[in-house]
Amino acid sequence: MRSGAECRLEREALDRERVGGGILRLATAGARVLLVAAAFAGCAPGRGDAAQAGALAQGNADRGARLIRSYGCTACHTVPGVSGGETTVGPPLAGIAGRAYIAGVLPNTPDNMVDWIHNPPAQDSKTAMPYLGVSKAEARDIAAYLYTLH
Ligand code: HEC
Repeated sequence: MRSGAECRLEREALDRERVGGGILRLATAGARVLLVAAAFAGCAPGRGDAAQAGALAQGNADRGARLIRSYGCTACHTVPGVSGGETTVGPPLAGIAGRAYIAGVLPNTPDNMVDWIHNPPAQDSKTAMPYLGVSKAEARDIAAYLYTLH
């Protein structure tokens, strides 16, 4: 387990990379996913976690948790920390922050996560996950929460 300061530095570096681009812009989307996963590997979930995840997705994780409940995501997904009972219609969202792909079709980046939540059939016409009318801003909040699920 690495220290909080160490993790924070890596997260800051990651934020700089997202904002500023640079050499990593040349890397493939897949490599970026691995980078995100690697940057967070070994970091203990803790108090700063929701804020950091929120920064990644530019949303508010607390609001995201409430939206997950109000949009009924838990009718199809078991979501740690959000009540709604066990269901297996869609994949459980535990550990989604560390998964390489979203629904097996999109590299797991914050932007792709927002696009997926906003309009899944637009990302994959055959998906069983319906369009639920989630706005982009709401999708950012939801993504912020999902990125706390390591
Ligand atoms: C009617 C059922 C249903 C509802 C409601 C639903 N989903 Fe899904 N979701 C699915 C299915 C089915 C999949 C698998 C899609 C695929 O692989 O094409 C999925 C996939 C996902 C994935 C990718 C999971 C992975 O392991 O790659 C995420 C993230 C997700 N949903 C988030 C949400 C959120 C957030 C909401 C609420 C706004 C929501 N879903 C509402 C059925 C649903």
